[in-house]
Amino acid sequence: MLSKAGIASRTETREWIARGRLKVNGKTVRDPETWVNPERDKILFDGKPLRPPKKMHLVLYKPKGYITSYKDPDGRPTVYDLLGDFPHYVVPVGRLDQDTSGLLLMTNDTEFAEHITNPAHHVPKTYLVKASALLTEEQLDQLRHGLELKDGPTRPATVKFLRHSARATFFEITIREGRNRQVRRMVEALGAQVLKLVRIAIGPLRIGALNIGRYRALTPDEIRLLRRAGAPPPAAA
Ligand code: URA
Repeated sequence: MLSKAGIASRTETREWIARGRLKVNGKTVRDPETWVNPERDKILFDGKPLRPPKKMHLVLYKPKGYITSYKDPDGRPTVYDLLGDFPHYVVPVGRLDQDTSGLLLMTNDTEFAEHITNPAHHVPKTYLVKASALLTEEQLDQLRHGLELKDGPTRPATVKFLRHSARATFFEITIREGRNRQVRRMVEALGAQVLKLVRIAIGPLRIGALNIGRYRALTPDEIRLLRRAGAPPPAAA
């Protein structure tokens, strides 16, 4: 965190920490691998508070094949490989499967991330789906009305049929919940497989001109709109 705050290199900051110049919540910390939360922990360097890092909000167009964790024991590429030497530590807002491509928000703003991922806020996420069968309108209606998965029924979804090819159906689906592998499992419940899955929108944010594998900072307007996306949490009783 010290090196990301732009104070000095990793090697230098490690030496300073080893020499006892850093205090976290009143205790001297000498292990540079100690995890700290810059928003909650009281961090003093040479007795002076560190300024909290600037809040960063990125949108990345994740290609298929990349995983959304920091390190992979199996050596698969991660979304951090796409950030290159981006100088701030940001984390993915929710996750996308390895085989899914599309929009992934990354931030160090925990309140913003909480707003997007909190299931009670129902922030809509839209996916472009290629399914391995000629699905009928009745089957798409099942997706719309909700169907039974092993972790409970799905909430109503918005589905827009796009086209049939010889053996596949292309459609867009907007869901307002984010269960593990949800779209894949919904399609499997219809007896088909997902052949391609792309997240094309998160609330009001669409892929637009962003190229695959690239990222950009969100504009202040986009941040504001995303903070308002979804249903407000129910008023306290
Ligand atoms: N639904 C899925 O099945 N996979 C994703 O990555 C996102 C939504």
